Amino acid sequence: MKPTAETDAGQLVELQAELQVLKEQLLQSEKLASLGQLAAGVAHEINNPIGYVSSNMKMLAEYSSSLINLVKLLSLQVEEGARTTLLTNFDFDYVCADLPKLVQESEQGLNRVVEIIRDLKDFSHIEDADFIEADLHQGIQSTFNLVANELKYKAEVIKEFTELPTLLCIPSQLNQVLLNLLLNAAQAIEQNGIIRITTGFNDNWLWFSVSDNGKGMSSAELARIFEPFYTTKPKGQGTGLGLSLSRSIIEKHRGVIDVDSTPGSGSCFTVKIPRQLPD
Ligand SMILES: Nc1ncnc2c1ncn2[C@@H]1O[C@H](COP(=O)(O)OP(=O)(O)OP(=O)(O)O)[C@@H](O)[C@H]1O
Ligand SMILES: [Mg+2]
Repeated sequence: MKPTAETDAGQLVELQAELQVLKEQLLQSEKLASLGQLAAGVAHEINNPIGYVSSNMKMLAEYSSSLINLVKLLSLQVEEGARTTLLTNFDFDYVCADLPKLVQESEQGLNRVVEIIRDLKDFSHIEDADFIEADLHQGIQSTFNLVANELKYKAEVIKEFTELPTLLCIPSQLNQVLLNLLLNAAQAIEQNGIIRITTGFNDNWLWFSVSDNGKGMSSAELARIFEPFYTTKPKGQGTGLGLSLSRSIIEKHRGVIDVDSTPGSGSCFTVKIPRQLPD
């Protein structure tokens, strides 16, 4: 076809639209990167006070049990009637029983915070924006831990892991892909669903898949899911960028993402990453 002023103008409009999409994607991935940076920074800052609060807690447990023993011994020096009144006034029996429980619960709470911080750091892996040899299961576990609470109201999560070799990848970005897939799976389920995370490898590829028994997708929907801003979720719930960003991340790893879905029965997303990056 001979180029005309009209076709040129048409192409220009198309290019401008593509440029707009790319700009939005870049903005979104920059936002995610700085969110990751913020999370890693906060995790790092919290680590320090948590360290000394944890060790103080251990000392507190020791000191409080010594103090209780001391009060018990000293109270024997007091005449019986006065002793009973004093101990009752200070709810001594109750305090003795409750104090170790309080300390133990606080220690458990602190351990939970330490775990969350470790997961946040693993998830954001902010130090390495480059390809490194990484253990995929560690990334899957820390990403899963971060959303486990959100998932548990919707579905039981079954992990079917095969022992995997390490993978040359950008772990924080693959974590981001898994996070998007897990959230999509949960959002596709009304309640009492099943989400399955599977991993595997062969000579050339390493893969992970996320399947759900949620609402599934029609072929018309399937054709559009990787389009930026395509979403079927209510306004304010989805931006429609999760899968398009995930696909750019997977392409950066020279990998592929496959989808299998049946309306009413569920979907399965499989991400395959080559074990050797082509030159
Ligand atoms: N597991 C799934 N089951 C059913 N539909 C899905 C599933 N995963 C994705 N979709 C469909 O693909 C659309 C696009 O998904 P995508 O993750 O890109 O955006 P989103 O989830 O709508 O919003 P965002 O991820 O930006 O919060 C979803 O709105 C939904 O219609
Ligand atoms: Mg999504």
